[in-house]
Amino acid sequence: MATPLLEPHQVPPAWSEAFERVPRVAFIPDQVWDGQRRPVDRATNPARWAELANADAPVITQLDDGTGSGDGYVSSSASKPSIVVMMLDALNAEEGHRVLEVGTGTGWNASLLCARLGEENVTTIEVDPDLAETARERIAAAGFHPQVVAGDGMAGWPEGAPYDRVISTAAVQQVPHTWVAQAQPGGRIVTPWGTAFHNGTLLRLDVGPDGSAQGRFGGDAGFMWVRAQRTPHGAVEDRVLPGHDFVESVTDLHPYEPVADFDASFAVGLRVPRMLSTVVHDGEVSDGRFTVYLMDPESGSWASWRITPETVREYRVRQHGPRSLFDELAAAYAWWLKAGRPEHDRFGLTVTAEGQQVWLDNPDRPLTHAAPG
Ligand SMILES: C[S@@+](CC[C@H](N)C(=O)[O-])C[C@H]1O[C@@H](n2cnc3c(N)ncnc32)[C@H](O)[C@@H]1O
Repeated sequence: MATPLLEPHQVPPAWSEAFERVPRVAFIPDQVWDGQRRPVDRATNPARWAELANADAPVITQLDDGTGSGDGYVSSSASKPSIVVMMLDALNAEEGHRVLEVGTGTGWNASLLCARLGEENVTTIEVDPDLAETARERIAAAGFHPQVVAGDGMAGWPEGAPYDRVISTAAVQQVPHTWVAQAQPGGRIVTPWGTAFHNGTLLRLDVGPDGSAQGRFGGDAGFMWVRAQRTPHGAVEDRVLPGHDFVESVTDLHPYEPVADFDASFAVGLRVPRMLSTVVHDGEVSDGRFTVYLMDPESGSWASWRITPETVREYRVRQHGPRSLFDELAAAYAWWLKAGRPEHDRFGLTVTAEGQQVWLDNPDRPLTHAAPG
């Protein structure tokens, strides 16, 4: 067994020794939270703690940036082991490569990198100074002394550049050009990437000789956002107010495909900027009575899309504000259908000093935001 968390076949041979040497459980703090964000304390509930620590699932290790107040926003976690494997595999690191990790968190991933590549080749940066300090101690207890930096990973860490590999374990919507600038030509950047509508997928970028990077999306990788790119919260009661006027219409489009389908919703997110979605069920999920809310916190626009078992192919839509969000979504979905339902891994991204550009199949087919029509 490579690790009790994963079957041996799940870990590529190049990483199996590192996974054997560095067990995740050694990096899990005594206080964690379960999926419902209920606290689980190792001292008072050791069995539940061990269950969470040893499952192939993320473990929440911090809420609300550690402030002790807030809505229970997940601000740090030990990532899901099988996703850690997928990301390390995508990194395509080789012996002697110098790596920058953004998002130290518990320090487990940084220790895996040290075990495979040598501590002298690993720099890891964490925005939360307390987490950085705790991780430094845990990584040292595992026997490694990489460069652990407390700072904003969006700026990379120029002191250690150039890197052969950059791996971010927090998701971005905009890839900072600093990561490209601090990587060697021929280097690789791996990061979870998403949109306000869809979080997210894994992006692999290869760095060119001209200071640009290019690559494709591939794989389901939902992650917490880097701090500066968090989406505003999507609480319906704060955004859809009783006095709001709206325009009502009827649609035959069911949310099943454009919202629940991974590839369709990824494409919709690419085409429709700054749109959040929340599903509110009336009661039990099995009742089939729910409303999908689409919201743009910036403009205050919202749309509600009402589904009941009695209404087949006639769903009520209400739209408020300067953006007609349902129309934008429907146009983006129609575009995706017309394009032949491209899977998410047919999309790619180019990053230059000027910004980033998403494309379909190749950079000659850049995507623009959808205009409803
Ligand atoms: C999913 S956790 C990382 C898991 C970690 N790699 C591990 O092995 O436990 C994401 C981390 O990214 C950190 N983070 C968020 N924004 C950041 C930024 N701008 N720079 C550096 N770290 C950041 C969060 O504080 C959080 O600890």
